[in-house]
Amino acid sequence: MHDSRHVLVIGGGGYVGTVLTDELLAHGYRVRILDNFLYDHFIAAQAILGRPGVSLVVGDVRDGDAVDAALDGVTDVVLLASLVGDPISRKYPQLTREVNIDGSEDLFDRLDGRGLQRFVFTSTCSNYGLRETDEPASEDATLNPLSIYAETKVAFERYILGRNAAVDFAPVILRLSTAFGFSPRMRFDLTVNEFACIAGQGEKLVVYDKDTWRPYCHVRDIAAAVIAALEAPEERAAGEVFNVGSDENNYTKEKIVEEILRHIDVDVSFVEGGKDARNYRVSFAKIRDRLGFTAMHSVSAFIPELIDAVRAGFYSHLDRTREYFGNYAVREGISWSLNSTPAMSKPAQTSAAHIAVAPAAAAASSAASF
Ligand SMILES: NC(=O)c1ccc[n+]([C@@H]2O[C@H](COP(=O)([O-])OP(=O)(O)OC[C@H]3O[C@@H](n4cnc5c(N)ncnc54)[C@H](O)[C@@H]3O)[C@@H](O)[C@H]2O)c1
Repeated sequence: MHDSRHVLVIGGGGYVGTVLTDELLAHGYRVRILDNFLYDHFIAAQAILGRPGVSLVVGDVRDGDAVDAALDGVTDVVLLASLVGDPISRKYPQLTREVNIDGSEDLFDRLDGRGLQRFVFTSTCSNYGLRETDEPASEDATLNPLSIYAETKVAFERYILGRNAAVDFAPVILRLSTAFGFSPRMRFDLTVNEFACIAGQGEKLVVYDKDTWRPYCHVRDIAAAVIAALEAPEERAAGEVFNVGSDENNYTKEKIVEEILRHIDVDVSFVEGGKDARNYRVSFAKIRDRLGFTAMHSVSAFIPELIDAVRAGFYSHLDRTREYFGNYAVREGISWSLNSTPAMSKPAQTSAAHIAVAPAAAAASSAASF
């Protein structure tokens, strides 16, 4: 139990964050979430509100006052908050750079001098992009980001690694595989979840570039990896980059379809020449050897669980509330910087680059108005 550790999870209201919060609480940590609920998914945090040891600040990582208030009394910080995924970062390139680079760098600078223990940043295996070899990528492999999303993740990784020796806390970078699994903030814009959901709904599955490889990792295993990064001896983790996933969950898209077909008939068509050129296999030897992390969940075990849930009717409202179940469009009320692209509407009530739905200082002074 770690009741002396109090972790600020920035982006804790999201797909990974709600599960991570649950796991941290179960391991005896206290948790504060800072999140601006970018996709109007406030309801995802409902099950967490009121649980002993948890507090919530509704605010933006770009808002220095909200961050300072949220940092009050915490011992560690996990940064999940980002615009996550290629489609959403393509749709909102400026906001993506503001959050994933500028806001993240500003946050990093604010952390120094507070006596914090760890700073865990969730980057992505998408940084490996298109690899010409089937040789699994280790952490020192050449990075080849193919999207704004991955470019911003690589940029902030470099920022951290350039300053890591100069700060008084221990940064750890986790390059996550594509996630799958149940979460209070379920996402169906992630390959395994999406394919199994479509199959369970009895709809036609169109699969682009079936031979492309990608590693996958269950969202509960991702939470376990973050906890391993928080708990590892400093000399094993500080300033290090770790791939997070498992060899057995390296899959081509066609192999995922084969897993689905073991459980349910699906009308599938394969199409070549899709927009997403990513193709990479990844090695997970370092996190196993240095942090003792082993993934416990497999794609093959999860697929029938999700198909059963879909067939039981869990997601029968999906078409009516699609926006909630993936990173498709940012909600109204999120402020843009003054020089944002004209395509983005700027809400009248905001005058600067930030939003804090609850006044940040008030939210943190009660350490949780929720
Ligand atoms: N899900 C995956 O497959 C995957 C794969 C690799 C890496 N990752 C990384 O894991 C992390 C979490 O991903 P996720 O799947 O939970 O995504 P998500 O979009 O569900 O969660 C991100 C959370 O951050 C919040 N957020 C965004 N901008 C913010 C801002 N300016 N201020 C405060 N909060 C903000 C959002 O409201 C959301 O709750 C991200 O850093 C992502 O890059 C995820």
